[in-house]
Amino acid sequence: TDQPLVLGIETSCDETGVGVVRGHTLLADAIASSVDEHARFGGVVPEVASRAHLEAMTPTVDRALSEAGVTLADVDAIAVTAGPGLAGALLVGVAAAKAYALGLGKPLYGVNHLAAHVAVDQLEHGPLPKPCVALLVSGGHSSLLLVPDVASDVRPLGATVDDAAGEAFDKVARVLDLGFPGGPYIDRAAREGDRASISFPRGKYEDGTYDFSFSGLKTAVARWVESRERAGEPVPVADVAAAFQEAVVDVLTKKAIAACKDNGVSHLLVGGGVAANSRLRALAQERCEAAGIQLRVPRPKLCTDNGAMVAALGAELVGAGLKPSALDLPADSSLPI
Ligand code: KG4
Ligand code: ZN
Repeated sequence: TDQPLVLGIETSCDETGVGVVRGHTLLADAIASSVDEHARFGGVVPEVASRAHLEAMTPTVDRALSEAGVTLADVDAIAVTAGPGLAGALLVGVAAAKAYALGLGKPLYGVNHLAAHVAVDQLEHGPLPKPCVALLVSGGHSSLLLVPDVASDVRPLGATVDDAAGEAFDKVARVLDLGFPGGPYIDRAAREGDRASISFPRGKYEDGTYDFSFSGLKTAVARWVESRERAGEPVPVADVAAAFQEAVVDVLTKKAIAACKDNGVSHLLVGGGVAANSRLRALAQERCEAAGIQLRVPRPKLCTDNGAMVAALGAELVGAGLKPSALDLPADSSLPI
């Protein structure tokens, strides 16, 4: 085939991800995660993540190639997350990608992590509608993007002004003595709870922007739990989880749909680790249907950080005939979209 075979490398946070795609076809998605090493700290420790990437890089590349049934010699281009993310962690992926590109004599494409979260959906649902709106929610980011073209034109509409949505899930899970990362634990606990039992604040709900704020919510939940404990009363964990989760997904879906309507866009993409949340998926579906908007959510493994998303965006850039990056490509922890 004349579709490019692209190897993608992702190391912006705690997952070493290596993916292989041909055009829009996913051939391999290998992941090594250091999440267990961070669990006892209750959050990702940058230095631990960097060291883990270094150890996992070569074996994960080898695993992806063998999963895809190809060799390095077959690869047409190398794509890598250049930012945003943890500086030291990004550096490991960028250095490895440069070494592969230089050694193989193949072009190197530095890509934006957020745009890659959008591009990955093409591996599951085919070409992205142009334009679409993307809601990206994870432990590191909470952004609304207008995407006329994922290869060349991705525009920020809004972002969190404090904590990311996933970060709020993780912090509230800690307050409730659930595990890390907290999102899946809250999701599970909330199924047994009453989301209307407690009314938690919805930050920036009616402010007319596409920005988010979750730090006030997190503090409100912590205060509510503390006051119960001080009074010697039991904490209804399932109800707190459900009410907190509802406050987050209510704001996320409301603003995402407003962004679609205001921009005359009829397709909404939701991605990032928090897109695995069952209540977010259900409420987004319900509100999209009511608004005549089509919802696209990749399967959970493609929503969390992975190498396939980087390869997917790399293939898009190659396909669009865009210029490769120079071999002095910097890792940029605050790379703008
Ligand atoms: O995209 P991701 O794997 O890594 C980055 O942060 O970039 O996202 C991880 C985040 C964590 O904060 C985790 O708690 C959250 O996604 N998460 C969830 C769920 N599964 C993962 N949050 C809510 N509900 C879930 N089911
Ligand atoms: Zn991410």
